[in-house]
Amino acid sequence: MADPAVLKTPDEMRSFSLMALREDKSLGFVPTMGALHAGHKALIERARKENDLVVVSIFVNPTQFGPGEDFEKYPRTFEADEKLCAQAGADAIFFPDKKAMYSENARTFVEVGGLQDVLCGMSRPGHFRGVATVVTKLFNLVRPTRAYFGRKDAQQLRIIQTMTRDLDLPVEVVPCEIVREPDGLAMSSRNKYLSPPQRKQALCLAHALAHCKKAVAGGERDAMKLIGEMAEIVEDESDGEIDYIAIVNAETLDDVAVIAGECLAAMAVKIGQTRLIDNVRLNG
Ligand code: PAJ
Repeated sequence: MADPAVLKTPDEMRSFSLMALREDKSLGFVPTMGALHAGHKALIERARKENDLVVVSIFVNPTQFGPGEDFEKYPRTFEADEKLCAQAGADAIFFPDKKAMYSENARTFVEVGGLQDVLCGMSRPGHFRGVATVVTKLFNLVRPTRAYFGRKDAQQLRIIQTMTRDLDLPVEVVPCEIVREPDGLAMSSRNKYLSPPQRKQALCLAHALAHCKKAVAGGERDAMKLIGEMAEIVEDESDGEIDYIAIVNAETLDDVAVIAGECLAAMAVKIGQTRLIDNVRLNG
């Protein structure tokens, strides 16, 4: 399989997209921050199946990291990422640097009111504004037919779907299932930070969410009761710090008291210094 082209500047990216447009080729796009794993690979493979061309972007986006977060130490593994992109069949990797993506006096941001302030938005103010802004910029440079996002970041997906609708962005947003390790831990670039004992404790998220899903399948509808049970599992299995455990409407991300229709059980737990998130969909 040919190595993917590495496009380092917005101009190179634009030329590639223009060529795709002129040749009337569909373009599948997978935006990432690198440190690629099997979760990212599944997105790229899906894009490969559904499009003529596939572009993966690798950009650790500074505007979505808060002060004191892990922007500096976020894993950067370009060579391994390039191999994974080649294996998964990507045609090009868009790998810009910070200066090329943001002019020094950039003043325009994209905000998705309400959805950006709940769940992860509560402890990461400005995070989703950074995500929505960079994804808009990437959509404009890459001009994809379809863009692939993981349900692992369910709030991010909901925000991108809403932004795409509200701004009439000509992109089809394709949600992709969460890829997990054999023992259930949701794959994440941040799992690299975990020590072996922390890695064991990290299973508490998947265990608590699996308990919730099973209880709902068995007829339980009381959200507060389930949130309490999930907190107990997290506390029993780890000494992590719970950021939030919530059950929300899958569309509005509003808390629900009674599980009805499509809901989402979602949580963020800090294991040591590592903040992990996970979620499951519930059908009430
Ligand atoms: P990153 O964390 O690198 O994730 C890139 C894409 O991979 C996201 O759509 C994410 O949901 C998906 N993904 C990550 N882990 C996954 C898993 N275990 N299963 C399925 N999909 C998974 O999300 C970002 O980067 C950034 O916020 C970005 C959208 C690139 C904007 O900077």
